[in-house]
Amino acid sequence: MKKIAVLTRDCAGVNATIRAIVRTAFIYDIEVLGIRRGYSGLIDGDFIKLDRRSVSGIINLGGTILKTSRCKRFYNEEFQRQAVKNIKENNIDAIIVVGGNGSLSAANILANKYSIPVVGVPATIDNDVNGVDLTLGADTAVNVALDALDKIRDTVTSLERIFIVEVMGRNCGYIALQVALAGGCEEVLIPEMEMDLDIISKEILEGNKQGKASWIIIVAEGKAHAHDIADIITDKTGLETRIAVLGHIQRGGRPTATDRILGARLGNYAVEMLKNGIINHCVAIKEDDIIEIPLNVTIQPKKIDLGGKYKLIKLLT
Ligand code: F6P
Repeated sequence: MKKIAVLTRDCAGVNATIRAIVRTAFIYDIEVLGIRRGYSGLIDGDFIKLDRRSVSGIINLGGTILKTSRCKRFYNEEFQRQAVKNIKENNIDAIIVVGGNGSLSAANILANKYSIPVVGVPATIDNDVNGVDLTLGADTAVNVALDALDKIRDTVTSLERIFIVEVMGRNCGYIALQVALAGGCEEVLIPEMEMDLDIISKEILEGNKQGKASWIIIVAEGKAHAHDIADIITDKTGLETRIAVLGHIQRGGRPTATDRILGARLGNYAVEMLKNGIINHCVAIKEDDIIEIPLNVTIQPKKIDLGGKYKLIKLLT
């Protein structure tokens, strides 16, 4: 293994992974190329050389220093072949793909259709990668959302309002559940659970009678839109509602200690895997141990198992 390349999506902790990849590769005398703008850069041959110094001072930065893109072109065979041509012409022996389901699915195409050696690093705020306990970026996203929620609570409590807060997560309720539990919210609506707005509205009215006037309901974007939920609750209760859609702030921000260390461990181990000839797998942490999961397993989106700590949901209201 003489030369590897790294391609990334953006979320907190990705820069820690890039840093660990470059510095581990240095130990083994492996050259590292950064692929700029994700799969677009792979198709366009937009590569930069990364050395130990070029990754100094980035562990604390959100996003990705390599930039990224949502690249529809990669799903067209002509562009896939162009990407493979660039890999071969640049003598790249293997690629480390740091990203979520979309990036890992594309990595799976590179591996299985074109026999390009690939190692995946699961990185997405959604925490929806199959077989993986915690994806890179999810911890920071939860903490960013929680910080916003705590601020919203100050005004909700003061004005005794009903607030619907929409969080990201695609079709997975991870961020919503974590935020609802840690933020002491009254309700959480997620794709993994049925929702009954009649019951919630009755609880709100009942609560009102007993002097409970402020409510925060967290809704996962994959379940419903905050404004639709707000309209229905206003219709059913006759009470005023307000909404907040937290949006992309959740994908940014300074990575938490958990994401920096996770990013470093995953990046370091990804290079060790390549060094040991383990390809077409993702590296992940399970119960604090490093594990290797076949790439084609990780590309199935994961739903949250509502056992364990999530049984606490019943304590919300
Ligand atoms: O997958 C990460 C994520 O932030 C999802 O939570 C969200 O649905 C989506 O990406 C937003 O994508 P974009 O940044 O392309 O709008």
